[in-house]
Amino acid sequence: LTVDWDAGHYDTGGYEHYLLKEISEQPESIARTLRGRLDERFHIAHLGGLNMDARETRSFRRVKIIGCGSAYYSGQIGAQLIEELARIPADAEPASEFRYRNPVVDPDTLYVAISQSGETYDTLAAVQEIKRKGGRVIGIVNAVGSAIAREVDGGIYLHAGPEVSVASTKAFTSTAIAFALLALHFGRVHDLSPSDGRRIVEGLRRLPDQIEQILKQGERIAELARKYADHPSIMFVGRVRGYPVAREGAQKLKEISYVHAEAYPASELKHGPLALIGPDMPTVAIVPDDELLDKNLTTLGEIRARGGRVLMVGHREPDARLADDVIVIPKNEIELDPILLTIPLQLLAYHAAVTLERDVDKPRNLAKSVTVE
Ligand code: G6P
Repeated sequence: LTVDWDAGHYDTGGYEHYLLKEISEQPESIARTLRGRLDERFHIAHLGGLNMDARETRSFRRVKIIGCGSAYYSGQIGAQLIEELARIPADAEPASEFRYRNPVVDPDTLYVAISQSGETYDTLAAVQEIKRKGGRVIGIVNAVGSAIAREVDGGIYLHAGPEVSVASTKAFTSTAIAFALLALHFGRVHDLSPSDGRRIVEGLRRLPDQIEQILKQGERIAELARKYADHPSIMFVGRVRGYPVAREGAQKLKEISYVHAEAYPASELKHGPLALIGPDMPTVAIVPDDELLDKNLTTLGEIRARGGRVLMVGHREPDARLADDVIVIPKNEIELDPILLTIPLQLLAYHAAVTLERDVDKPRNLAKSVTVE
């Protein structure tokens, strides 16, 4: 049994598909996730729904994040944010894997369950398993009053608004924002400095306008989608912060356009997948301006040397020999870059699906909310 959103109450608001509407709504959905939660005085996040005082917030030694599909990939972004800003070890795992491996539930770990619908069966079952073993679990959920929201000890609602299209877009970016808030909150009760806190608060405030700027490149990204969508297979690569972005980009492309896509950490290419690279398999490379820029540019050179075409998403045009096409996006704080890097990949997948005349909002074999094992 699978359950879909009842799309009856919502219209596409003049857009051709719900998916494009939801991609385009992200400046507002992100602003709603942030609303009332940023504190300019102490450079902290207000997250009253966590139901946790400062002493308890300090007591956790690890963070374990669980979710399915795109929720899991946004959890990977979240784990990196928590490690970077709060210096607490964090990692993400598919909820379905977690629940089936008789997990060790540790009292010093905070568990975080992510779900747009709040109804995904594997995520709900994982939450119940954690609670049964006496663990503390919070939720990052969009649907208010949903099964997961009722089961957890506290959490953060996304307030992203209803997401109708099967492929998650605005819930994905709002989840990453919720993790930035959580990481800021944990960081500032530990050792994140006020100036770094201010840097993140100001970076978060810039995001809606910057997303607006990326959305203005829609027509150009549509052209690129038409150019790349006729390949049987596309490689996505990124390093560290760029890797979950690459995974989500590949996921979006395969689920709505049915073009085969693989995502690898750029550093792993030489351990196998480089054998696939050639004129038939272009690469979408996530190349932010961060401490890994030079390494990423070297990877582009290796791909081009094998005759592979490169579509780079980053903050500046590289040497023309390194990329066939470049999507340049605005720069934010490095920790927040993954949120902006995701937007062009959503548009790329959307326009690829339209070009290939797919059922964009209801891709074959998939459901919005998977309420079975
Ligand atoms: C399904 C959807 C995905 C979604 C996943 C988790 O597979 O097709 O887009 O990411 O479920 O859904 P949830 O509602 O738990 O975030």
